[in-house]
Amino acid sequence: MFRLGRFIAVLSVLATLVFLPSLAMAEGPLTPTEAGNELTAKLLANAGDNDHRMAYQADSIAGVVLLVLILVTAAWLNHASPSRRIVGTFLAAAMTLGIGLIIGWLHVIGAFDNVRPPAFSVDELKPGHMRLLGVAFTIGGVFLLLVTYWQTKRDDVLALDATNEQTRYGRATRVLHWTTAILFVGLIPMGVFTSMIPEDAWYRQGYYVVHKSLGLTVLLLVFIRLVWHRVSPTPPLDTSLKTWERRSAHTAHVLLYVLMIGFPISGFVMSTFGGKYSHFFFWDTPLFWAPNADLIIPWGVLHKLALPVLFYAVFAAHIAGALKHQFVDKHGDAFKRMVT
Ligand code: HEM
Ligand code: HEM
Repeated sequence: MFRLGRFIAVLSVLATLVFLPSLAMAEGPLTPTEAGNELTAKLLANAGDNDHRMAYQADSIAGVVLLVLILVTAAWLNHASPSRRIVGTFLAAAMTLGIGLIIGWLHVIGAFDNVRPPAFSVDELKPGHMRLLGVAFTIGGVFLLLVTYWQTKRDDVLALDATNEQTRYGRATRVLHWTTAILFVGLIPMGVFTSMIPEDAWYRQGYYVVHKSLGLTVLLLVFIRLVWHRVSPTPPLDTSLKTWERRSAHTAHVLLYVLMIGFPISGFVMSTFGGKYSHFFFWDTPLFWAPNADLIIPWGVLHKLALPVLFYAVFAAHIAGALKHQFVDKHGDAFKRMVT
């Protein structure tokens, strides 16, 4: 039944993996600029230099604090008690609005006018990209504040098993879904800003430690999720869906898994080819292979352009599908399979 969905998913992945990185080899917006070539040369000259940590491991501690905050938010979003769920939604609203306001503040102080020189001409779009993300996060944060207010009108206890049920996801899958979703959505603006930080900024390396640690956490969580779904199979898609909706939903889910695995792996491979260590909070991963200037660029295009483009398309479809179900088809129970 899902053959067409799988076919579309495989085609999209192939197009993303092969087509966009191969553009990096041709003349055009993905041709490295002079600054880009200098950057690569500098990276390779300092390959293996691992002098990056902030004093007292402040970067790893910041990463752990963020992760704990996100875990608590995801757990409370799905808590049995209505008052805890209100706090969970408020925390999600505060984080989303917080990211929007920080981006707005960076715009006001002119931080986007003094960024690392573009490595490709397409990088010139980054300040505009950040400003758009700022607007999107601010609107999302205000919307979630409204949801928090609506939730204060509810007092139902969420009776839910840890395991997945026949018609809805259980608590464990929900906590995994929301932890990963918050991490993932936060890593996008964080990543875009990562590559704008001027070379000499004092916080640059520490910021990388946080991005890489949270990114590798997504990879860990997706493996836990896949194993968990073997132990506790996910419910089949909602029976009210039409055939094309089932195919689209299935394709979107497969692609979201591709993204949750593809982003961290491509980030790790790109960093290693650049001779840079990756970090998982207090630990550094080894440099598994030798740096290679020719391979940093295709892996960089994958991590920094192809996967983000794929993510925006799939994420928009994922949210639009969930909202259509709720507001157009008026199947409130379908939305509640994952959202409380
Ligand atoms: C932030 C807004 C999001 C909303 C409102 C949302 C909503 C939902 C809903 C309602 C479902 C259940 C679909 C069904 O009935 O089967 C679902 C499933 C799913 N979502 Fe999301 N989601 C969001 C973000 C994300 C993100 C960022 C990712 C991954 C990067 C993601 C990955 C998935 C996956 C893979 C499933 C399928 C279930 C599974 O295998 O765990 N979602 N989501
Ligand atoms: C789900 C996980 C991840 C997501 C969603 C993500 C997302 C992003 C995005 C959107 C960018 C900015 C692209 C740009 O505009 O140039 C970026 C940059 C970057 N990411 Fe990730 N990332 C993830 C995981 C990782 C991991 C695990 C690593 C390394 C171990 C990593 C290393 C990097 C590096 C080094 C940059 C900056 C490259 C530069 O200086 O231009 N990322 N990331």
